[in-house]
Amino acid sequence: MHIKIREVSKFYGSLKANDAVSLDIPQGKIMGILGENGAGKSTLMKILSGLVKKDGGEILVNDCQAVINSPKDGIQIGIGMLHQEPRDFISMSIKENLQVGLANSNRKSYPDFKVLEKISEALGFRLDLSGDVSRLTVGERQELELLRLLWLGVELLILDEPTTGISAGQKDQLFTALKKLAQEGKTILFVSHKLDEIQALCDQAAVMRKGKMVKVLNSPFDQNKMVELMFGRSLTRISPCRSVSHDLCIKVEGLAFEDFRLNIKDINLDLKKGEVVGLAGMAGSGQRQFLQALAGFIQPVHGTIYLGSAKINGKNCFHFQRQGIHYVPSSRLEEGLLSGMTLEEHYCLAQQEDGFFIRKKNNVIHSRERISTFRIKGTESSRVEELSGGNQQRMLLSMLREPARLLLLDDPTRGLDIESSNWIWSLLRDRCQHDTSIIFSSSDLEELLFYSDRIMVFFGGTVTRPLPASELTEERLGAMIGGKELSNIEA
Ligand SMILES: Nc1ncnc2c1ncn2[C@@H]1O[C@H](COP(=O)(O)OP(=O)(O)OP(=O)(O)O)[C@@H](O)[C@H]1O
Ligand SMILES: [Mg+2]
Repeated sequence: MHIKIREVSKFYGSLKANDAVSLDIPQGKIMGILGENGAGKSTLMKILSGLVKKDGGEILVNDCQAVINSPKDGIQIGIGMLHQEPRDFISMSIKENLQVGLANSNRKSYPDFKVLEKISEALGFRLDLSGDVSRLTVGERQELELLRLLWLGVELLILDEPTTGISAGQKDQLFTALKKLAQEGKTILFVSHKLDEIQALCDQAAVMRKGKMVKVLNSPFDQNKMVELMFGRSLTRISPCRSVSHDLCIKVEGLAFEDFRLNIKDINLDLKKGEVVGLAGMAGSGQRQFLQALAGFIQPVHGTIYLGSAKINGKNCFHFQRQGIHYVPSSRLEEGLLSGMTLEEHYCLAQQEDGFFIRKKNNVIHSRERISTFRIKGTESSRVEELSGGNQQRMLLSMLREPARLLLLDDPTRGLDIESSNWIWSLLRDRCQHDTSIIFSSSDLEELLFYSDRIMVFFGGTVTRPLPASELTEERLGAMIGGKELSNIEA
């Protein structure tokens, strides 16, 4: 299937999310879609898949004009999309999820699990189709959605930032699968902010800026040129200023926790004021639970958390917050933000002032100040789901209280473009100058090495002691995440 997009536009009020965009998408190729946060990438992808209706222009599928007014139309033409935020139903079983939307497809019968397992095996996925979606990692949920789309007969596969919440291993697996699908004749659109991913995977890359299509480049790509096309200038990342004090912020002794998938023992950490500790590991190796235990959301089964000399585990999360410990989750729309509510309402809720009267005027002023400081593309009356993915992430970070003793950040730059993540880190490292400590998880090894003072590696139920980032390299960290070189450096 080859697709021609001609002069496609989409307006939200006066905002031109897509401004007369034209693009040729050749069959059997992988095309990268690049652009800064809010450039219009997801909007264009949603128009192609039928989730958003265009205001102008046309889409030609194999040189015939296509009417794509709903995801049902998209699927019937053979266009399917893996969304930036998972759109499956977490409370339902895998089987039920696969059955949803069947009426909208060309398929008449329920999926045969043997067929699905075959597709899954051919793509190298190790997915158990018998359980509940709630037990899957983000990477596995993506694999499930891919299987569903392939089973529905999709020929053009759109993936909107599929690598933001998955581990390096799952990413390799996904890339191998996508290359295989392209060889079989499927066409793939791959939205990403990560230039090395575009380089590794794509035949062509289309760069968008401020709603317009700027240029289509051919592989191999000149990365500096891509950055210039995206941001209008070249970018440099400034090395963080180290500001670790000798005083202790938090001490963790022999911490252990368990859930249906994990059994993690003996985590030890003495975090200094102003220190940044990075958590490395495959997605689902316990980093998230560790952050949640430190925020008071889950109770460890063993071990102690001391803040100064006071033991704080056993207290509820509000006690942790009053002590200046704040947590930012990685799943923005599921845990961090409330769909349907405006930015102003979010700031109002996050302030948690005493009493129940809302000071509307103050709240508007406060919201505008935050929106401008965090350069969020939106207004105080925008609903959070109207923001682009990267702007939702800025919104989450802009709600963090100041001052804070400890920030617990689960993948803080998820979905941010290069310029925004450099800038967010400069704000975070500024806070460290004022004695705030940070513990963050990331799947990006470069980010972990660049911004952490020390790094803890999570693998198969064990967690290393914090290792100075200056003594690690990407290769060594990559090996440790995969379980190698770990025996002599456990906690
Ligand atoms: N439903 C909506 N209502 C109002 N504005 C919207 C809506 N959806 C998108 N926009 C706006 O359109 C612009 C483009 O958004 P889009 O989601 O396409 O950006 P993006 O390139 O995917 O960015 P990111 O990299 O942050 O995901 C943004 O300014 C966004 O706020
Ligand atoms: Mg997007």
